[in-house]
Amino acid sequence: MSPKAAQAPSRLEPPPLEATELSRQLLKAQEEERRRISRELHDETGQALMVLRFQLELLLGDAGGKETEAKIREALEVLDRSIEGLRRTIARLSPRVLEEFGLLTAIRRQAQLLAKHTGMKALLDLPHNWAAADHDIEVALYRSVQEALHNVAKHSRASNFAVRLEVTSGKVTLQVEDDGTGFSRRTAHTRGFGLTGMRERAAALGGSMKIRSERGKGTSIQIQLPLAKSAAKANAAAALRHAS
Ligand SMILES: Nc1ncnc2c1ncn2[C@@H]1O[C@H](COP(=O)(O)OP(=O)(O)OP(=O)(O)O)[C@@H](O)[C@H]1O
Ligand SMILES: [Mg+2]
Repeated sequence: MSPKAAQAPSRLEPPPLEATELSRQLLKAQEEERRRISRELHDETGQALMVLRFQLELLLGDAGGKETEAKIREALEVLDRSIEGLRRTIARLSPRVLEEFGLLTAIRRQAQLLAKHTGMKALLDLPHNWAAADHDIEVALYRSVQEALHNVAKHSRASNFAVRLEVTSGKVTLQVEDDGTGFSRRTAHTRGFGLTGMRERAAALGGSMKIRSERGKGTSIQIQLPLAKSAAKANAAAALRHAS
């Protein structure tokens, strides 16, 4: 083989991808995988647990004695907790709420859930209208809210949190803030994957992420993503419609 032929890309090889395009495709594949797992959990594991529940209830009907009955009831309780846990996992994995009800409702629901489970006070500052953007952008915003609020719940010990979404000149800005413990830069680098994942997701879509956090002074995460021209226009028009 001549050196030239050795360097020429084989026909079977796809052309090299730009790093951001590769990240974008990896994110897409990851979302698709999550959706598949969520579907399987729902259709297979979920169904199997429901059948089990039905059979235990039948057994309860002709349990021979109090002791057996108590054991079946105990098993039913464990099963119900597992079904509830499975439901939550399915909801976390699949952005179905995003697809069914749209971004603003999906964000509101996340915030309400956090407020309900922790007793924290939520402040929401969302556009009155949101003309749907590119699906990748919507998923990125939804996943970022999910992770940021998960962090608020897990680490912040805050009393208040806020979620803001703003569209300005071709950009969408998401901000999630809390008045909790805050953290140092070093902590963020040495622990989990959540913040890194958010930053990479934003970068893959041509955007950026900023973190402001100080011990004892709370945390603010800001994500900026560019909107496609059509989505920027549609959102500007939606805002105008609301104002008039
Ligand atoms: N809102 C917050 N308040 C206080 N500390 C935070 C907050 N968000 C993040 N942190 C700190 O930054 C660290 C890194 O956050 P990150 O989301 O990357 O990882 P994690 O939440 O620990 O794990 P993972 O997200 O992988 O489950 C956390 O471990 C925590 O110490
Ligand atoms: Mg996290």
